[in-house]
Amino acid sequence: MKDLAERGKLIERPAHRAIRDYAAKLGYRDLIYLNVGEPDFSTPKNIVNAAKKAMEKGFTHYTEERGLVKLRESLASKIRAERKVEVEKDGILITNGSAEAIFIALMSLINPGDEVILFKPYYPPYLSCVRIAGGKPVFIPFNTETLTPNIEALKEVVNEKTKAIIVNSPCNPSGVVYDKDVLKTIAEIAVDKDLYVLSDEVYDRFIYNGSFYSISSFDKNLERTIIINSFSKTYAMTGWRIGYLAGNKELVSNILKMRGAVNVCVNAISQIAALEALKKSSEKHVKKMLAEYAKRRKFVLDMLSKVPELKCPKPDGAFYIFPNVSAIEKDSLKFTMYLLEKAHVVVSPGNSFGSNEHIRISYSCSMENLRKAFNRIVKAVKEYKAKT
Ligand SMILES: Cc1ncc(COP(=O)(O)O)c(C=O)c1O
Repeated sequence: MKDLAERGKLIERPAHRAIRDYAAKLGYRDLIYLNVGEPDFSTPKNIVNAAKKAMEKGFTHYTEERGLVKLRESLASKIRAERKVEVEKDGILITNGSAEAIFIALMSLINPGDEVILFKPYYPPYLSCVRIAGGKPVFIPFNTETLTPNIEALKEVVNEKTKAIIVNSPCNPSGVVYDKDVLKTIAEIAVDKDLYVLSDEVYDRFIYNGSFYSISSFDKNLERTIIINSFSKTYAMTGWRIGYLAGNKELVSNILKMRGAVNVCVNAISQIAALEALKKSSEKHVKKMLAEYAKRRKFVLDMLSKVPELKCPKPDGAFYIFPNVSAIEKDSLKFTMYLLEKAHVVVSPGNSFGSNEHIRISYSCSMENLRKAFNRIVKAVKEYKAKT
């Protein structure tokens, strides 16, 4: 057979996915998965019921390519109110999760050789998408203690080949929420050097301290900023595969062409579900889930304070913590394997996210399992220390 496309060789299967597959094969009955990047709650009932009704009524056909007009109008008015930017319904594109939004946005922006700024630690698909588009990822280091980005480094690396910056606040995997000042500096560099900004805001509701600020608010007409968001995390709707991007009409029309190459529209039923999710009646469910995450976060941070070897600042957002494990083990994958085999707890090695000194722990899991998992982690860390 002839070789497959070279493109496939540009992407590695991230270690955190491989670990999950490996763990499942081990056959341990008491495994606890703290590597999960999705809410463990069920989708709120009102949303499910709206979808059921839509199906029964035969709402089972293609929709407008950009997405239902009502849904886009609703999102445009939400974004205008919350971000204080100008956006119309035709500046919104409903996508198959924010994952598709990231891919098609980068495919329509990046030429081979263009440089794209990624802040470490990063969400792994950014790297894959940049590479598939033929772009060159340029990494901005971070402070391995505070987990905050090194903005001085950003100023140094931007050059005439730089095309775009990807900002993800609150950040997966670190949980860090970028300060307004940091975002302002990034926005100013973007204007000064004429760069596009992709702002991945899928965790915008997951804030435990302070408030969320969108970098888009520095770009009132969304001249260069593309907002990317999703229903997956806020409404526990990962399996419905629905997200969106927002930008100026011209840019979004171009991105729509890319989408047309792989899909017609997002599934009609999920769009009705999303419309329901945006209604006030969903808010009480969202608040309940957020209160539960806040409780879990507090518990996890309390437990971690008993393990000084796992250094971790208190992240203000998302549902992850990203402790630095280098005081006991320099190789995050080795430490991940140790926790898997010794404690029967699955976490994600930091090397998947651009740091071999850290591991990512998700607290999207019941308190009962968190309690068990952290008792085991504390014990395993003590034994690791004794062993080495
Ligand atoms: C930062 C970030 N962006 C995008 C996504 C993709 O989510 P979805 O495609 O379900 O919207 C994820 C999922 O984990 C994420 O963590």
